[in-house]
Amino acid sequence: MEAKQSEEFFVIKALEDGVNVIGLTRGADTRFHHSEKLDKGEVMIAQFTEHTSAVKVRGKSLIQTKHGEMVSGVE
Ligand code: TRP
Repeated sequence: MEAKQSEEFFVIKALEDGVNVIGLTRGADTRFHHSEKLDKGEVMIAQFTEHTSAVKVRGKSLIQTKHGEMVSGVE
């Protein structure tokens, strides 16, 4: 039986073209396993899974998690 998935989602909304959402592997080996490109206005709704333990975001975007909301890609 599959482990119960967390029902928690995070949201990333691209505020410019070409924002990259990169999934990093869970486990001893931390590497990129997926890269998703979002154009301005596009939204990705995703979860952390058995395969994905961390996410790296490159480019200007609005990120919402249970920890709050932040804008990436600005100083
Ligand atoms: N197949 C991936 C997984 O189940 C899909 C995925 C989930 C993903 N969350 C992500 C990809 C976050 C990039 C970023 O883990």
